[in-house]
Amino acid sequence: MKALKEIDISRQLKAFFKGSFQVNKPLCGYTSIKIGGMAAVFLEPENNIDLALAVKFLNSFEMPFRVIGNGTNLLINNGRLEIAVIKLSGLFFKEISVKEDVLYMRGGVSLPHLLNFSIKNGISGFEFLAGIPGTSGGALIMNAGIRNPFQPAITAAPYLSISDSLIELEIMDARGKIFRLNKNDAGFVYRGSKLKGIIVVGAYFKVKNKAKGQVAERIKSFLEKRRISQEMRVRSAGCVFKNPMGENISAGALIERSKLKGRCIGQARVSDIHANFIVNRGNATFSQVRELMDLVREKVKQDSGIKLETEVEIWNKR
Ligand code: FAD
Ligand code: EPU
Repeated sequence: MKALKEIDISRQLKAFFKGSFQVNKPLCGYTSIKIGGMAAVFLEPENNIDLALAVKFLNSFEMPFRVIGNGTNLLINNGRLEIAVIKLSGLFFKEISVKEDVLYMRGGVSLPHLLNFSIKNGISGFEFLAGIPGTSGGALIMNAGIRNPFQPAITAAPYLSISDSLIELEIMDARGKIFRLNKNDAGFVYRGSKLKGIIVVGAYFKVKNKAKGQVAERIKSFLEKRRISQEMRVRSAGCVFKNPMGENISAGALIERSKLKGRCIGQARVSDIHANFIVNRGNATFSQVRELMDLVREKVKQDSGIKLETEVEIWNKR
């Protein structure tokens, strides 16, 4: 990174940036697990033009950047991170529109808002995302979804994912250029994609029209199932490990079998309800969560021979 003093960053950004920005911004308030150090600079652009200018500015100083959605799948190191963090929080990035059977949404739409929109407009296709607290951009990067409750009766697909009904993505590359990317070129897999180093600024989905009441009922039933099996109102980043592929058992069940429910390191605790969740019971640190993850991985490997892969994304210091 080229040497750039905080005062220079502020002066230069003020000259062209329409959105808001802050140097040395603590990130813990921007993650659902409430852990995270300081970003060198935190930018909230107003629209795509502003975003492109910010990206070009950061590039010219060789300052790496990352986008943060709702921070619901992130574990961020404490201390200072030598990166810029961009959040698509402006109203522009929250737009959703529908034309016939195609829904378009920008990259900063929160999934709960998408579901409210779906109910109001009688749109079906996203109900299974109920209870996932992320944004459209984060959900697409992670290919968010759930275990398929209809399998094997209706379909052989083991997971329902946001990319299932996706047609095309609208992405901004690292030079600030926007282009469209076909779903098949995004490399979607279970809990991932090959979308690295780009910003999701929008996406087109194929949807179905259904009675509003029916959409609301489906959302309610997905939420009810989740309320029984997961801790939803605590500080966590959701499931910490991926389900092991090719094994007929979930990561949560493996962790429970290893008798790790309730195990704590400091303020980090393996959830008593869903063993694949690690909960921050107060002021858990990054290191405590990492240590607990290592302990879980080692014990499960010892007991079952299965190596758990991390599902949450870790942002380390650079
Ligand atoms: P973030 O966590 O902010 O970021 C995740 C990744 O996406 C990062 O790499 C980030 O840089 C990138 N990113 C974010 N926005 C953009 C963008 N616009 N352009 C480019 N990159 C971007 N996940 C599931 O799949 N299924 C579940 O059932 C589920 N349940 C959960 C329940 C709880 C209680 C919690 C806390 C989490 C759960 N999650 C679940 C995890 C999480 O909500 C999802 O992965 C979600 O899609 C992440 O979205 P986000 O906006 O919070 O992304
Ligand atoms: N189970 C246990 N103990 C536990 C947790 C689960 O025995 O502590 C058992 C359950 O009884 C059930 C099986 O494991 O028989 C599967 O449980 P669940 O339906 O909760 O699904 P999962 O595979 O554990 C996946 C996703 C969740 C998503 C649910 C929706 C992964 C890693 N997790 O969990 O996603 O909400 O399906 O059914 O794929 C996330 O990614 O953050 C996340 C929460």
